[in-house]
Amino acid sequence: MAVTDWRKSVVYQIYPKSFNDTTGKGQGDINGIIEKLDYLKTLGVDYLWLTPVYRSPMNDNGYDISDYYEINPDFGTKEDFKRLLDEAHARGIKIMSDIVINHTSTEHNWFVESRKSKDNPYRDYYIWKDGKDGQPPTNWESKFGGNAWQLDSVTNQYYLRLFDVTQADLNWENEKLRKEIYDMINYWIDFGMDGFRFDVINLISKAEYKDSDKIGKEFYTDGPRVHEFLNEMNRNTFGDKEGFMTVGEMSSTTLEHCINYTREDRHELSSVFNFHHLKVDYKDGEKWTKMPFDFIELKRILFEWQVGISKGGGWNAIFWCNHDQPRVVSRFGDDSTEERRVKSAKMLAITLHFLQGTPYIYQGEEIGMTNLYLDDISQYRDIESTNAYQIMSDNGFTNGAILDILQDKSRDNSRSPVQWDDSENAGFTTGTPWIDVAKNYKQINVKQALADKNSVFYTYQKLIELRHNLDIITYGEVKPLLEDHPQIFAYERKLDDKSILVLANFTDEPVDVPSSIDIEGSILINNGTYHSNVLEPYQAISILR
Ligand code: GLC
Repeated sequence: MAVTDWRKSVVYQIYPKSFNDTTGKGQGDINGIIEKLDYLKTLGVDYLWLTPVYRSPMNDNGYDISDYYEINPDFGTKEDFKRLLDEAHARGIKIMSDIVINHTSTEHNWFVESRKSKDNPYRDYYIWKDGKDGQPPTNWESKFGGNAWQLDSVTNQYYLRLFDVTQADLNWENEKLRKEIYDMINYWIDFGMDGFRFDVINLISKAEYKDSDKIGKEFYTDGPRVHEFLNEMNRNTFGDKEGFMTVGEMSSTTLEHCINYTREDRHELSSVFNFHHLKVDYKDGEKWTKMPFDFIELKRILFEWQVGISKGGGWNAIFWCNHDQPRVVSRFGDDSTEERRVKSAKMLAITLHFLQGTPYIYQGEEIGMTNLYLDDISQYRDIESTNAYQIMSDNGFTNGAILDILQDKSRDNSRSPVQWDDSENAGFTTGTPWIDVAKNYKQINVKQALADKNSVFYTYQKLIELRHNLDIITYGEVKPLLEDHPQIFAYERKLDDKSILVLANFTDEPVDVPSSIDIEGSILINNGTYHSNVLEPYQAISILR
């Protein structure tokens, strides 16, 4: 169906490198996406978000762009991309591409020039500083480990890199650079894009370059000019395009800022991703730890954002997973047996898809793909994970302890190839896959899911259809329920004289629904056998009245 208000749409995220390979190279490509458009149409999604496919040395799988105007030949050509747009549009599916403008690859021509001399015309496109007594300019830490400044021997100054050493931060204070960025964005709008996802966009405005008591985040997160820059970008690019959808990835942000990023009258972005709910299994805020997730905290954060952003007139993106997160069924669900995997994957889908905001489904989530469970460091590909391995190892962790943590937390968990069928390499490639295929592909794959009417796939299909058909799921007020209940995730949506009740049991034990909750009404979706006052293990039910 054609969705008129972008707010009613559902987005499917594609990580092209791991999606579908048509050449036998062992890596997915654009033609591989075209081949699966009918499948995505069957699922019913409205938009596809593709992570970066531009020219890149691929140190961070495309988030290190060396040419914004070219397609990485490993993924195909511009003609392929044009064909993807046409084929998607012919099926009523829109395309959002990823725009990475906090940093470029150090192989980008701007940086190649910039590093040549202090008076190079591109010098000021990046952030260069002198060291302090032979030390980096500040003590800020890179998000991928180590100090955030890299000494460059050509001019003996440091450049800032909040991520990898090959990802140099751009200097947004430079007006000429901003203009070049807007021109590039307009090029892709003219090319036919329907929307953009902006990578770590709340880091573009740096406040001051001073030592931090922590790791430096306070000097560049939601910085002093970020709203001004986004408003300027909006006015100079997509702002006048009716229905153009944008989403900003907001690192360590606040609710107040996100309201301001997305309130329509401010003309910045349409929606935001925040990650607070995905830190509930971090011990003392530290990612590289092993900890069961805190269920009450998960609910508290999701509800705080649901209610808060709606009160403030902003708009959320809602999601359990992406290419930087472990697989949700292994994380907040239960993949210990086939029955539990299927039931808990459906439960998680139902819990999320009745919330307010734009839902994002990460490739493979719709069939309940699990973590990868690699058992040797040589199998890991992700730069963040291999850096973390080195740092933990330097800090005295044993190999076994580190691998145990990586099995839970590594970004490679969600980057394994999509499991299409039970043939060799899960039908992803005829060559050698760039990263291992999960061992369970013979049981868990798209072919199996399509053939089984009770599979996770059909739960996602149904949830998308419900969102398209029932306005209350998009516009209804959110009312959290049973906030302190240790097992049940519960909430209500309300619009006019209608309401929807959602109840989900996050545990492997049956649980009584407290008598304060009236469960009468007609069932919209139920992953269990009964509609009663007892929720089965991992049962989720949604009731309309
Ligand atoms: C974002 C991307 C991530 C990337 C980082 C640096 O968080 O999602 O994959 O490594 O930005 O660009």
